[in-house]
Amino acid sequence: MQLSQIAAILAFTASAVAQNAQIAKRDPPRNGGDCNKAGWNGCYNPVGLADAMMQRGREFVGFALTIRNDSAELSVQSNTYEEDFNSVTPENDMKWEVTEPQRNVFNFNGSDKIVQFATSRGYEIHCHNLVWHSQLPPWIAAGNFSNATLISIMENHIKNLAGRYADVCTRWDVVNEALNEDGTYRSSPWFNTIGEAFLPIAFKFAAQYSPKSKLYYNDYNLEYNGNKTVGAKRIVDLIKSYGVRIDGVGLQAHLTTEPTPSSGGGVTPSQDTLETVLKGFTKKGVSVVYTELDERLVVPATKAKLEIQKQTFKTVAASCLAVKGCVGITLWGVSDKYSWIPGVFAGEGAALVWDENFQKKPAYYGMLEGIQKG
Ligand code: G3I
Repeated sequence: MQLSQIAAILAFTASAVAQNAQIAKRDPPRNGGDCNKAGWNGCYNPVGLADAMMQRGREFVGFALTIRNDSAELSVQSNTYEEDFNSVTPENDMKWEVTEPQRNVFNFNGSDKIVQFATSRGYEIHCHNLVWHSQLPPWIAAGNFSNATLISIMENHIKNLAGRYADVCTRWDVVNEALNEDGTYRSSPWFNTIGEAFLPIAFKFAAQYSPKSKLYYNDYNLEYNGNKTVGAKRIVDLIKSYGVRIDGVGLQAHLTTEPTPSSGGGVTPSQDTLETVLKGFTKKGVSVVYTELDERLVVPATKAKLEIQKQTFKTVAASCLAVKGCVGITLWGVSDKYSWIPGVFAGEGAALVWDENFQKKPAYYGMLEGIQKG
C-alpha cells in the first residue's frame, strides 16, 4: 500500500470518529426538535451558539429572560431549531423590588416561573441580583436604617432569596453596579450606611446561604480598561482581603456598534483591549463572563450598520474565547422586538442578534464565528 493511501485511510477514520462523537452528543435532538425540519441534517441540529461554546470547552451561552406570551420568542428561547442557549438570567424577576416589596414580605411568583422555565429545559440559571442601588423598593431608602439594621435587612433578603434557589443558581450577581465611572463607589443606601464593607458582607451572606453558587461582582463599562475597570479589580481584592469568596466578575457589555449619542462617541473596544481587561481579572484568580451583551446603534439599522455589528459581536465573542477564564456569554434578550434600550436611549436600539421578526441578523453569525474561531 502506498503512503498516500495509508494517509487517506487514516484521514477517513479520523473524520468518521469525529462524526460519531458528534452523533453521540446530538442524538436525540433536545427539546423535542423535529428531525424533518428544513435545513436540518437528519436528526442532527445545526450548531448553535451554546453548542459551539461547549465544543470550545466553555460553559454556556445565555439570554436575559422575561416570560411573555409570544410564541415566536419562545421558539428561539427554547432552542427549537438549534442549541443556542443553555442558560438564562432573569431580566427583572429576582430584583429586590419584585422579591421583597415590603420588609420581610416576599414574592417569589415571578422568580419561581423563571426557575421552572429554566429547569424544565435543562438550562442553568445566572441569578440576578442580590444587592443593587436600583430597583430597590422605597421602604429601604425611607427607613433611614442604622448600620446594624441595614446589615440584618441584607442578610434576611439574601437568606430568603438566595437560600430558596441555592440548588438552582449556578451563578449569582451578588453585588451589582457599585462603581461610578471614575472608579469610586457609587452613592447608595448600602455604601452610604455601611461603607465599602457592604461588598464583602454581601458576598459572605451569599456564600453562607447559597454555598454551591459561583459568586460574581457585576458592572457595566468595565470593558474599556479605564478607571472603572481598576475599581472592579480593587473590589475583587477587597472581598478577598476579608477572607470572603468571590468567584467571578461579570462584564455587562452594553456596547455600541457605532458611536451613538448615549455612548459619548465610544465604540466597542478592540479585541486586544477586551482581552487585556479579561486577563486583568483572571490573573486575580476569578472567572469572567460577559453577562448582559448587546450592541446598540442609531436606528434604523442599515445593511452597512448590521455588517459592522456582525464584526463587533465577533470581536466580543472572540475575546472571550481567547481568555481561558471566560466561561460564558449572556445576551441581554434575544430579539430587537424586546429590549430595554429604546426606552432608555431614544433613537437607539437594534442591539441583539435576532431582529424584530425573529430572523437571525448578521450579528448572530458574527457571534457564532467569534465563538468557533476566536
Ligand atoms: O413591572 C412594571 C409594570 O408593572 C409597569 O406597568 C411598567 C410601566 O413602565 O413598568 C414595569 O417595570 C419595568 C421593568 O423593567 C419590568 O418590565 C420598569 O419600568 C423598567 O424600568 C424596567 O427596566 C429594566 C431595567 O433593568 C431597570 O433598571 C429592564 O427591563 C432591564 O432590562 C434592565 O436590566 C439592567 C440590569 O438589571 C442591570 N444592568 C443594566 C441592565 C439594562 O438597564
